Amino acid sequence: MPETVLTNSALEEMVDTSDEWIQERTGVKERRIADDKDSTSSLGLRAARKALARANVSPRDLDLIIVSTSTPQFLFPSTANLIQDRLGASRAGAFDLLAACTGFIYGLSLAASQIEAGAIQTALVIGAETLSRVVNWQDRSSCILFGDGAGAFVVQGKDEPGGIRCSVLHSDGSGADYLFARSGLRESWKGDFPPNGLEMQGREVFRFASRVMVQATEEVLEMSSLTLDDVDLIVPHQANLRIIQAAARGLKVPVDRFYINVEKYGNTSTASIPLAIVDAVDSGTLKSNSRIVLVGFGAGLTWGASLIEWEAMPTPGAALQDFLRESWYLLARMRSLFLRFRRLLESLLFQNGKRRNP
Ligand code: ACO
Repeated sequence: MPETVLTNSALEEMVDTSDEWIQERTGVKERRIADDKDSTSSLGLRAARKALARANVSPRDLDLIIVSTSTPQFLFPSTANLIQDRLGASRAGAFDLLAACTGFIYGLSLAASQIEAGAIQTALVIGAETLSRVVNWQDRSSCILFGDGAGAFVVQGKDEPGGIRCSVLHSDGSGADYLFARSGLRESWKGDFPPNGLEMQGREVFRFASRVMVQATEEVLEMSSLTLDDVDLIVPHQANLRIIQAAARGLKVPVDRFYINVEKYGNTSTASIPLAIVDAVDSGTLKSNSRIVLVGFGAGLTWGASLIEWEAMPTPGAALQDFLRESWYLLARMRSLFLRFRRLLESLLFQNGKRRNP
C-alpha cells in the first residue's frame, strides 16, 4: 500500500460530503493515495517481491507475469514488462490484462489454465492500481470510493489436486457506459475535466453488482458440484459494504461469511481481492485447508468468480534467503543497466560504422 492515507474527514475539505455519509453508504473510512514517487509498477513490484518472499520462490523460476490493471503506467510497454525487468525474471513472459475490478480473477484463471495445460509451471499474478490518477476529485459521487494499492499471488503447479479449482468469467460490453475512464487517445479533450477521468453511474453499477455477485458465486459452486455449506470464506471485490451485504442477502448467508476490509482501503479495483486475502491470512481468518470463493465485478461490464482450495499457509523464508533475494534484485538492476548500455553501444557502432541491420 502507498503510505499516504486519505481519510473521509480530509475528503470533507475537498468535496461536499461527510464522514457519516461515506461510512453509511459505502463502509469506507479511509483509502491510500499513491505519492509522486509511486506508480502502478512500483506498487506492483513491491507486492510482487513480498509474494515471492512469502512463497519462497525465486524470480528465476517465473514463467509468466500477468499484471491486471486499469491504470497502467504507460499504454505500452506493459506494466508487467517493467516489473519483469526489475525482478530480474529473465525467463518470464509478461503482459498486462484489463478487466477492471474483475481483472485479478481473470488473471488467476488464465495462470491456472496455463499451468493445467502444461505450458508453464510458475506464474506471478499482480493486481495493481493508481486509480487516484484517473478519479475526478471534484465528483463526490465517485471520488469517495476509490484508493490505490497492489497485491500479488504466486501460482505454481503441483501434482495433487487443489489450488485454483475453477473459474467463471463474464462480460457485457453493452454496459460500458456505466463506468468508464477515457484513454485520451480517441478525442482531444477541451474541458477542465482530466482527459482520462473516471465517470460512473453509481446506482446502476450498484444494481448490476448486487445481482452478478450472487450469480457468479452460484455458478462457480455449481461448476464444482459444491454448495455454500462447503465454503469457508467468500472474498468479494471490496467496492462497497452495501453491495457485499446485498450479495449476502441474495445468497441467503450471513454477511460474516464474507471477508471485508473495504473500510481500510476503499475500492482498489483489481488489487482489492489479493489485498483482502493478505489481510485474511494475516488476521488468521483464512486458515490452511480452507475452501474459498473469490467473486468480483467491474467496468466492462465484467464479472466472475473462482473457487480456490487454500491448502497451506506460505512459510516465509529464512534471513539468509531474504539477503540472497535482495542481492538478486540488486543484480537485476545492474543487469538492466548493462542491457541498456549494450543497446546504446550497439546503436552507436551501427550508426558510426554506417552498418545496416542484418
Ligand atoms: N456525499 C454526500 N452526498 C452524496 C455523495 C457524497 N459523497 N454522493 C452522492 N450524494 C448524494 C446524491 O447527490 C443524492 O442526493 P439527492 O438525493 O439529493 O439527489 C444522494 O446522495 C443519494 O445518491 P445516490 O447516488 O442514490 O447514493 P447511493 O446510495 O446509490 O450511493 C454510491 C452512491 C456510493 C456511489 C453507490 O451507488 C455505489 O457504491 N455504487 C456502486 C459503485 C461501484 O461499486 N463502482 C465501482 C465498480 S468496480 C470498478 O470497475 C472500478
